[in-house]
Amino acid sequence: MSNQTQNQRDSFSNKFAVVAAVAGSAIGLGNIWRFPYLTGQNGGGAFLLVYLVCVFMIGIPLMTSEFVIGRSAQLNPYGAFKKLAPRKPWFLIGLMGVAAAFMILAFYTTVAGWTLEYFYQSLTGNLMGKTDAQLTTMFDTFLMSSFRPLLWFLIFMGFTGYIVISGVKEGIEKFTKIMMPFLFLLILILCIRSLTLPGAKAGLQFLFRPDISKIAPKVILEALGQSFFSLSVGMGTLITYGSYIKKDENLIASAGLITIADVSVAVLAGVAIFPAVFALGGSPASGSGLTFIVLPGIFDKMPLGNVFALMFFILLAIAALTSTISVLEVIVAYLTEELKMSRRKATLAAVLSVSVLGIITVLSFGTLSNIQFSNMNIFKLLEYLTSNIMLPIGGLFIVLFIGWFYSKDQVRKELTNEGALKGKILPVFMFIVKFVAPVAISMVFLYSLGVIKST
Ligand code: PHE
Repeated sequence: MSNQTQNQRDSFSNKFAVVAAVAGSAIGLGNIWRFPYLTGQNGGGAFLLVYLVCVFMIGIPLMTSEFVIGRSAQLNPYGAFKKLAPRKPWFLIGLMGVAAAFMILAFYTTVAGWTLEYFYQSLTGNLMGKTDAQLTTMFDTFLMSSFRPLLWFLIFMGFTGYIVISGVKEGIEKFTKIMMPFLFLLILILCIRSLTLPGAKAGLQFLFRPDISKIAPKVILEALGQSFFSLSVGMGTLITYGSYIKKDENLIASAGLITIADVSVAVLAGVAIFPAVFALGGSPASGSGLTFIVLPGIFDKMPLGNVFALMFFILLAIAALTSTISVLEVIVAYLTEELKMSRRKATLAAVLSVSVLGIITVLSFGTLSNIQFSNMNIFKLLEYLTSNIMLPIGGLFIVLFIGWFYSKDQVRKELTNEGALKGKILPVFMFIVKFVAPVAISMVFLYSLGVIKST
């Protein structure tokens, strides 16, 4: 108890727990559902290339910056900016993060619900023996029906709330530690099956042979947005988690490790999916159903495919759960610390209000599909606004804060753990957060704005 600060915060119990919990937040549907479908729609290898540049050039320093803010302030994103920059408008970034958390939870939990449906469908044996066209119809019909997608959404939301109510240590750590290695293994098995299908090579070429001419402004914006979304950065999730990290953890090393794990899962998901898309006759650009349509096709071609499908979809649901709890945690930390609600009340309030938005989101594929904003339904709109606009703006200001506003001494202290680490990489880090990342993010924005004007 001696090293507790005045507000008694939970903290992760050891290094593995931090890395596991943050990796749990980062690795999820973003890697296995969103990355493949965006890659498929945005030219394959070209998208992957830009994505990787964004992840390593901007993602790692941004993740580190969030850790620095969270760990030094020991507060939620809004409170953290208020504390570190009193009477300055930086807290708006924290507020935007809380808003983004609401929006992300609404559509993310919708997709998480799809994983439960697919788990259920593999339980009943319904996934097997279907052609690509039949799997597409099955996905579309499910999406447009209202009841089951709603039910799965609510069940998933309930689970998320239950875990967040039970607190950081018991709740979050327990779930992340054991399950993720299994998921990784299953994806590897899927890769092997996919790669050994006749005609698989075209998929590998699609993913790994970038056609530079495909790098359009839209592709760059989508890749930037996806890199932030996948790493859970730009909205304060990792400020919140950073506030639970102990003072003797190496923040840069943790960020690097987590990023590598996250990227590996995304790329492996691509290796599992694209060869099969080409081998089984689907279209890489078929949109947000891609993962759910292609994977059952691969399971169908495996011995014990149905068992693998069962395991896969439940593990994917768990991966999604470790992400949704991290998003909900942002809202709950804000409500408990700023509005002084109890953890229980805060969680209930958050879950209820997200559910309202979520129900509308789920229905935007069926009953409410006529509500469109420049050709996007509510689901797509939330996805677009958060990933491509709010996270990049949040990320821009977070690096600007660390690069230009926050005291350099404090940054050095956090990154060297008060001098215990050498911090050789510090100048590189500072150079990126001061110049490279802000310029790159701003340029991507200006570039894509210019295009919106000229078309
Ligand atoms: N990174 C998570 C994923 O890829 C999603 C997420 C986004 C979580 C933003 C937290 C904040 O699945």
